[in-house]
Amino acid sequence: MAKAIRAEVASGVASLAERGLVPGLAVVLVGEDPASAVYVAGKGAAAREAGIAERTLRFPAGLPEAELLATVEGLNRDEAVDAILVQLPLPAHIDAARILEAIDPRKDADGFHPVNAGRLLQGKPAPVPCTPAGIIELLTREGVPLRGTRAVVVGRSDIVGKPMALLLLRKDATVTIAHSKTKDLPGLCREADLLVAAIGRPGFVTGDFVKEGAVLVDVGVNRVTSRADVERFFPGNAARLASFDKKGSTLVGDCDPATAFPRASRYTPVPGGVGPLTIAHLLKNTLELCVARRG
Ligand code: GUN
Repeated sequence: MAKAIRAEVASGVASLAERGLVPGLAVVLVGEDPASAVYVAGKGAAAREAGIAERTLRFPAGLPEAELLATVEGLNRDEAVDAILVQLPLPAHIDAARILEAIDPRKDADGFHPVNAGRLLQGKPAPVPCTPAGIIELLTREGVPLRGTRAVVVGRSDIVGKPMALLLLRKDATVTIAHSKTKDLPGLCREADLLVAAIGRPGFVTGDFVKEGAVLVDVGVNRVTSRADVERFFPGNAARLASFDKKGSTLVGDCDPATAFPRASRYTPVPGGVGPLTIAHLLKNTLELCVARRG
C-alpha cells in the first residue's frame, strides 16, 4: 500500500515537472541518534525515488539553537524548498517547540506547527502528521469501518496520539484517548473495535487489552536487547531468535505479538506495518505543500 501511495505521488510529481515545477523537501538532522539516521535515510531515498528534490542537512549534536533557527529561517526563504522536516528528537539543549514553531506553516512537512495543529483540530485543510495520516489511509483503503465504531488511542503525543484521535473523530469514530495514568486501562481497551497503540513501551498491550476480533494498529518501534524478552514476545520463532543472536537486538512494537495479535481480526506488525506508510505520507504532504504554494 505504501508503494501504491508513493507511485501516486510520483505521478503527481511527474505532472508538475511538465510545468517545470519540482517539489523540494529539506530534511534536517541534528546529532547521531542511530534510529533517526535510519529514518532520515529512508525518507531521503523515498523522496528521490518519487522525483522530489531532496536535501538532507546534517549537523553535529552540539549545534547551537540559534544556528538551527537560522537554518530553518533560511529554508523558509528558499523558493525551491516546499517542505521542511526537522527530525525529532532534537538534542536536549535545543527547544524543539521553538524550532517547530519557526518553520513556515506553509512548508510544514510534518504538520507539527501549532497553526497546522489548530487547523487539524478545527477540521480545516492543513498538512497532517504523517504517521496518523498514513494509518487513516491504511484503514480506509482496507475497508475497516470507522463511522460509529469505538476507537481507543493509547498514547497522547503531539506526533501520533493526539492527531490520530482527531483524524478518527473526523471519520465519525467515537474516540477515547488513554494513557499511562488511565484507570483500568486493559478494561477500557477491551471496549475498543479499533485499538491504536502508541506509547513506546515494548509489548505493553497484551491479550487482556484486546477484544476478540478487534482491529489492532501498532505504532511502537522499540529495540529489545534481552533474550528473555525475545523468547517471551516471539515464542517458537526460531528466525527471530537467530536474528537477535546475530544482532544483539530486535524490534518489538507496543503490542505483545504472542498474546495481543492472536485476538485481533486484523493487525499491523512491527516492523513492516505502519512505518512505510509514514514515509509515503511525507511524500504526499510534500507534493501537496508544493501545489498549495506554487502549483
Ligand atoms: N521522529 C519520529 N517520528 C518522526 C516524524 O514523524 N517526524 C519527525 N520530524 N521526527 C520524527
